[in-house]
Amino acid sequence: MEHTFVMVKPDGVKRRLVGEVIGRLERKGLTLVRMRMLTIDPAMAGRHYAEHTAKPFFGELVAFITSGPVVAMEWSGPKAVSIVRTLMGPTNPAEAPPGTLRGDYGTIITENIVHGSDSPESAAREIALFFD
Ligand code: RTP
Ligand code: MG
Repeated sequence: MEHTFVMVKPDGVKRRLVGEVIGRLERKGLTLVRMRMLTIDPAMAGRHYAEHTAKPFFGELVAFITSGPVVAMEWSGPKAVSIVRTLMGPTNPAEAPPGTLRGDYGTIITENIVHGSDSPESAAREIALFFD
């Protein structure tokens, strides 16, 4: 059994896709453990995306992720980390295949609907950041 952190980003919330994200993960067979809605401040954005602080897109990423409320969730299930990444699709929605969340609902790389942890270690860190 694995745990992962999933977040509906501000674009997903604005476009009323929270239920769609939750529904897809539930129908796949994953279990919703806990959730909260919040607006991320720049300091928290910097901690969540610490690995990207030196990237050229970091400023745009922080501006976007703090632009409105998000829905933060912990999910569990066998291989939950990789299953969520598969259901989300590749980072760039333009390259994400139909049937994935990003492929079905996104167009540009910054506004890609949903975040999912990229490893069990990231999941533990992100769950602690948002829930402890
Ligand atoms: P996330 O962390 O949000 O789940 O996305 P990810 O693992 O698929 O992608 P990651 O490499 O961690 O990038 C984090 C977010 O930064 C934005 N990004 N913009 N303009 C760009 O070239 C660029 N590259 C990445 C995306 O919104 C991505 O989700
Ligand atoms: Mg990532």
